[in-house]
Amino acid sequence: MSIIKFLDLGSQPIANGFLTQEEFADEFFFNLSVGLDEETRLVTQMEYVSPDKMFNDSYAYRGSLSQTMRSHFSEATESLAPHLPKSPKVLEIGSNDGVFIKNWETKTTFAVEPCSNFADETNNLGYTTYASFWDTKLSEQIMSEQGCMDLIYAANCMCHIPDLDETFKAVSNLLAPEGLFVFEDPSLVEMLSRNSYDQIYDEHAHIFSVTALNNLLNRNGLKIINVEALSVHGGSNRIWAARSDSPKTFSFDLELYLVQEGMSGVDNLGVLDNFATKVLLSKENLIELLHTFKMEDKKVISYGATSKSTTIFNYCNIDSSLIDCITDTTPEKQGKYSPGTHIRIVAAPLQIDDAVDVAFLGAWNFEKEIKKKEHKFVERGGQFITHVPHVRLV
Ligand code: TMP
Repeated sequence: MSIIKFLDLGSQPIANGFLTQEEFADEFFFNLSVGLDEETRLVTQMEYVSPDKMFNDSYAYRGSLSQTMRSHFSEATESLAPHLPKSPKVLEIGSNDGVFIKNWETKTTFAVEPCSNFADETNNLGYTTYASFWDTKLSEQIMSEQGCMDLIYAANCMCHIPDLDETFKAVSNLLAPEGLFVFEDPSLVEMLSRNSYDQIYDEHAHIFSVTALNNLLNRNGLKIINVEALSVHGGSNRIWAARSDSPKTFSFDLELYLVQEGMSGVDNLGVLDNFATKVLLSKENLIELLHTFKMEDKKVISYGATSKSTTIFNYCNIDSSLIDCITDTTPEKQGKYSPGTHIRIVAAPLQIDDAVDVAFLGAWNFEKEIKKKEHKFVERGGQFITHVPHVRLV
């Protein structure tokens, strides 16, 4: 596998590794660089962080805390159900705190979740949850214990797994002959068009184009039958796939889709190099804007202690001299510090108190939900800023 590097985001910590002061000295860092795989056209990290460093019993991201995500997964359930047999057998890979599986029957729904804190939670709810990483061995175990699956679903999980050949082969082995494999992850086209380089962090081993997925699925016994564009997580694609020999079809023209996607430059090194140039400009502009606020003596906070903001703050060297604190609704993050740049994370009932002048949208992908919640802040003249698609006041 030959990978051509096009972007270097420097030294980065574990993006979801919110930590206490005592843990600062032993913090793990790695070089976050991204390249294009010449063979599959996959945009992928040059060096993967070992999964057990990221996904363990202190994993802090909870999908069900956001109304947007809760609605998203109940809508996903409604759109999947008509394509499945009655009482389908369903497996979710990467079930987090159960935000998707809670929409399905306990008896016929199974889950895989390596973070044991979450696996315990969904086991307690009655969903058989395997507290392991997804691989061939686990798929064989599930096959022998539960039989094949009518639906294998994964949200924001496939892009986390370094070895996609093994992953997709294991899916194809466990899928019923007419079963569906449906998965969604951030879209490379959207990342390039929004200049949202913060989609790149340790957990996102790859940022998917449909072009690359088509190459990888085809060589592992699967085929794409539909692609849906989603607004969540800053623009994602939901891929509907089936076994290569499946009769399942959709009125979807894959060839046309691939031609159109190709025109946006997802596997063109010139386009990817240009993206890297824009990322550097975004960094310079964000630092400049934050320095201006500092000179004006404005209190700046960040809204949402996201994995994405870990990439930004570390790449741009933004620490507590520029951002006073980060607010977040996740209990596991509150009272801790942001990875790498060590900005304190606080809970605030109304998220933004009266002293705050400016809030950087760390969770820019929830802009609508946040602005609605924080209308009083906006009404009293508070300003949100973002770097998407370029550094600006919102
Ligand atoms: P994500 O961008 O990785 O989905 O993470 C969103 C983070 O933002 C998560 O830690 C919860 C936090 N958040 C808030 O603190 N307040 C909010 O209103 C929303 C929508 C998210």
